[in-house]
Amino acid sequence: MLNGKNILLGLTGSIAVYKSIDLVRGMIKEGANVTVVMTEAASRFVTPLTFETVTGRSVHIDTFESPLSHINLPRDTELFIIAPATANTISKLASGIADNLLSNIYLAYKGPVLIAPAMNYRMYENPIIKENILRLEKTGVKFVGPEAGSLACGEEGVGRMSEAGDLLEAVRAAFTQGDLSGHNILVTAGPTREAIDPVRFISNRSSGKMGFAVAAAALKRGAKVTLVSGPSSEHPPQGASFVSVESASQMRDAVMQHIENSTAVIMAAAVADFSPVSKSETKIKKADSISIELQKTPDILQEVGGKKGSRILIGFAAETGKNTEKAKKKLKDKNLDLIVLNDVTQKGAGFDVDTNIVTIIGRGGEITDYPLMKKMDVANIIIDRMLQLKMR
Ligand code: PMT
Repeated sequence: MLNGKNILLGLTGSIAVYKSIDLVRGMIKEGANVTVVMTEAASRFVTPLTFETVTGRSVHIDTFESPLSHINLPRDTELFIIAPATANTISKLASGIADNLLSNIYLAYKGPVLIAPAMNYRMYENPIIKENILRLEKTGVKFVGPEAGSLACGEEGVGRMSEAGDLLEAVRAAFTQGDLSGHNILVTAGPTREAIDPVRFISNRSSGKMGFAVAAAALKRGAKVTLVSGPSSEHPPQGASFVSVESASQMRDAVMQHIENSTAVIMAAAVADFSPVSKSETKIKKADSISIELQKTPDILQEVGGKKGSRILIGFAAETGKNTEKAKKKLKDKNLDLIVLNDVTQKGAGFDVDTNIVTIIGRGGEITDYPLMKKMDVANIIIDRMLQLKMR
């Protein structure tokens, strides 16, 4: 997700500097080019050699290593993240003091800045520090953390630097924020329930997690989102226009009602393929055996495919086995731009788990396999792939 991004990581003198090793690894794993600049104090906690080893690049500490390093180093930088940032460094940055390489770079750099504070909770509560953070925020600097928990000094409070995973998410968000602004995304999620009688129904194991993650990711990236969902215990993401439905035919009606304004439709719902021909108005009595006649439900995605116009249309394929041929057929039959195939028999993939393992197939037949990852990360990848296609 960070492929080819040039990121400058600033480290200052806090015990939390060790957590930044994992942050660097995560950013590099996603394809970023990471350069590290350290304060003298940071190098007392973890040696520059450690960061040189994980980044494969020189680590910069000395303002005088070359007279213009504070100008040259940030030249191609697309994000400057300072993690950990001490109270001292935060205050210097807020006041325009430039007495080391890191603070000189900060003054010379014009791009986005992300700061992850780390300090004792009493220092964090100090009104001067609060004011300095506010001052930086007013200039557009984004903050992530600090978190509550046990601190290096043995005390409890708010002051811990955020964990590497959360920092990585903030880095990703810094690159994707607003890239969906102006778009209306219609997302379907969850199962549908097809009533047999007032107490029984046909359904499936969909929890809604995948579709809700797509809706949440699209919202974070600035889209207007309409989320049409079957029964789910997930909380609809704040800001989404939420339409709760039960049956396939209700989902169809809701989708058709909202399709006109949409620039993209992403259908992660596990729509029941069959529903009883008739619903008994009273509870069906126990018997040794009963027969229920089933009929096909409306194929919502197929219908949307017929009205696609210039909007982007993305479907899912839930298969038992990595059946790319079946997924390709669905992509073609339903007139999709992309199809997200998940083999629901794989551990950590498909129904009712927080992770997924997907293969994304494009209209031209190109196939990309992705490893096991959080559904939120899958959602962001789907959006990245969608943005690579021409949007209306
Ligand atoms: O909700 P979770 O627990 O997080 O689980 C996620 C998931 C497994 C449900 C999700 O990742 C997924 O695979 N969703 C699609 C499930 C499905 O119904 O797949 P399908 O191969 O049967 O359908 C293909 C596509 O047609 C899907 O986009 C589906 O939404 C759509 N469809 C299917 C039948 C129908 N009557 N109308 C439709 O629109």
